[in-house]
Amino acid sequence: MQVSDTPGREEIMRALRNVSLPGGGDLVERDLVRALAIEGGNVRFVIEAETPEAARALEPVRERAEAAVRALPGVARVSVALTAHAPAAKTRAAPQSGEPPALKIGRHPTAGPSSVPGVKRIFAIGSGKGGVGKSTVAANLAVALAREGWRVGLLDADIYGPSQPRMMGVSERPSSPDGKIIIPPVAHGVTMISIGLLLREEDEAVIWRGPMLMGALQQLMTQVQWGELDALLVDMPPGTGDIQLTLCQRFELEGAIVVCTPQDVALLDARKALKAFQTLKTPVLGLVENMSTFICPKCGHEEHIFGDGGVRREAERLGLPFLGELPLSVEVRLAGDGGVPVAATDSPVADAYRRMARRLIERCS
Ligand SMILES: Nc1ncnc2c1ncn2[C@@H]1O[C@H](COP(=O)(O)OP(=O)(O)O)[C@@H](O)[C@H]1O
Ligand SMILES: [Mg+2]
Repeated sequence: MQVSDTPGREEIMRALRNVSLPGGGDLVERDLVRALAIEGGNVRFVIEAETPEAARALEPVRERAEAAVRALPGVARVSVALTAHAPAAKTRAAPQSGEPPALKIGRHPTAGPSSVPGVKRIFAIGSGKGGVGKSTVAANLAVALAREGWRVGLLDADIYGPSQPRMMGVSERPSSPDGKIIIPPVAHGVTMISIGLLLREEDEAVIWRGPMLMGALQQLMTQVQWGELDALLVDMPPGTGDIQLTLCQRFELEGAIVVCTPQDVALLDARKALKAFQTLKTPVLGLVENMSTFICPKCGHEEHIFGDGGVRREAERLGLPFLGELPLSVEVRLAGDGGVPVAATDSPVADAYRRMARRLIERCS
């Protein structure tokens, strides 16, 4: 028997080009494919429609997309989910006992922003674009705050690319004794939950079919047993979409921490994020500059490769607090990939996070 390798992203996208859409064009041309993940024969992705109605109408397309990818040599399992941008009526999935509840579909109608029982402060960790180190900062800041004695929670709200399970080294599915409450794992002193821990393989398609993500976020905020927390950090998806809107409108936030890199382009994106938080009347607690300097892994020399103090100046110009700068360091990435955030170790980067945590605690007291 011939054993084939799992196809790569390009081959999968090529197959999806053959999946035509009712209104003309194909899945790739119309740019509806999101969050493609390929892992040892398993392929998962999301088809994102504009509205829940449109998503439901795409069910036959979803099936054809699944079949097209399954037909590729080397593919063992395919799971394709449908999502939508805009609000939908909520539906209910019956939970099986002991299993975490299925993430519900739809924007949950609640009046005004609410607090989360036991949680003193909610911080949103945002940025204008992906890859600036939002998740890295969220994980490390959470750990650093916990090391300073705060009771800290971390909620990974990045639907398209949940990264906290990897960064915090957590993989087990949280339990739910009654199918309603979710018992979160604790890692490095931080109570954490990630959409990535609840959406798994075969469940994924079921949970995501026709769904709205806002309901899922609300559910994680309120059904997870956070206990008493001094702070809950929410690791946001990039940009200024529905999740940001839901979080800022539905919950009383202490404020947002915006992560930027020194490059101008990133700053422009960051400005968009800042503006969005302002529009949503969420106070910006401060800017963080990530990948400020480069620490040479060989000699330890620190260099401002992108120029010096760009984000600090921008913060000053905007009258916003500057929470600190974090170096670009191989150690940070390796730690993130290895499930032990660098802030949990003893190192100069951990010191930088400690200073940032202290500054934040000071600002809040
Ligand atoms: N200061 C840093 N030094 C080195 N690598 C970093 C640093 N910050 C982030 N990274 C790496 O960059 C990648 C993207 O970071 P991530 O935190 O996932 O960004 P985002 O959440 O904004 O998309 C990850 O591989 C991460 O390990
Ligand atoms: Mg992220």
